[in-house]
Amino acid sequence: MNPAEPAFRSQASSARPTRVTGLAGRRPALGALAAATAGLLLPAAARAQPAARDAVVIRSDSSPYVPTPQKVVDEMLRMGRVGAKDFLVDLGSGDGRIVITAAQRFGLRGIGVDLDGELVRQANAQAKQAGVADRVEFFQRDMFKTDLTKADVVTMYLLPEVNMMARPKLLAELRPGARVVTHDYHFEDWLPDDRITLDVPEKKVGTPGLAYVYLWIVPGQGAGRWQGTIPVAGGPAVPVQFDLEQRFQIFSGSVTVGGRPGKLLFGEMIGNDMSLVFAAEVGGKPVRHEILAPMRGDEATGTLRVGESSSATAVPGKVVLSRSLKRPAFLGAAAGAK
Ligand SMILES: C[S@@+](CC[C@H](N)C(=O)[O-])C[C@H]1O[C@@H](n2cnc3c(N)ncnc32)[C@H](O)[C@@H]1O
Repeated sequence: MNPAEPAFRSQASSARPTRVTGLAGRRPALGALAAATAGLLLPAAARAQPAARDAVVIRSDSSPYVPTPQKVVDEMLRMGRVGAKDFLVDLGSGDGRIVITAAQRFGLRGIGVDLDGELVRQANAQAKQAGVADRVEFFQRDMFKTDLTKADVVTMYLLPEVNMMARPKLLAELRPGARVVTHDYHFEDWLPDDRITLDVPEKKVGTPGLAYVYLWIVPGQGAGRWQGTIPVAGGPAVPVQFDLEQRFQIFSGSVTVGGRPGKLLFGEMIGNDMSLVFAAEVGGKPVRHEILAPMRGDEATGTLRVGESSSATAVPGKVVLSRSLKRPAFLGAAAGAK
């Protein structure tokens, strides 16, 4: 899906840290990239003290330092619908620019974590300079040991394999409706809810000149059997039943309307908002129906629109669905088991 097959890529194959000695011992792609970016990818401490390079540890669950261009930071915050009330966490925060920009612009609170102590020190100093140190803080900490349960928005600019290692943690810890925004890399078969490609001429890594920004909205778990009624113009409400499977935010399954089979055309779970699009016969013809219903526990109360979306009419009267049978949603290996 992502056309970017990056130069910015480690050759990591195991979860164990890899110790390398000096530049000659660095893994090839990283070495090539380091050459391309004139040393930008070395941890800041190693850049400041060349003699320390011999002790550089490149972990296969980490990513090198490359700052996100400001234009991309701005787009990440826009796409993440970041607002004043959000708590923002940048995983691998580098010089802190994403959290600091968000705090300056929206007045929100946030933290960043990074393995690199020198970058953390720099980020805290910059937060102070920007006048936001009362609202944001940066910690030298492994992102995999960082609690995400309070985050409304998580931002990441990390290698693809690190994104994938973080995916179960994001899905297990973030509340439904929390947003994850990434720069350049995605989560494979957890498809994004939104994405954009930006021209960034000064960018030299990944796909030079381009940046990809992706948004995911953490889905609630709506799989199972839902029963209720839908309003019908000029007539009594009709019983409806959905049997839903859920893979990340997408539903598949079946629907019956008035005891007769309809066809589930599309269903998704955006945070805790269920959207179910189905065809059911009206006057002998299949007609498009769309239910939009926020889920609260095992109840979903919402609205019905009937007809093609451009000419659809909202049918007055509430749709009330109750879940009589719960199934686990598939949210990737670890979180799906939750
Ligand atoms: C590509 S940089 C992104 C910096 C910043 N988020 C930005 O977009 O400008 C990735 C950062 O992640 C940090 N990092 C890599 N693995 C990490 C881990 N497991 N825990 C915390 N930080 C990590 C690196 O030290 C590096 O500073």
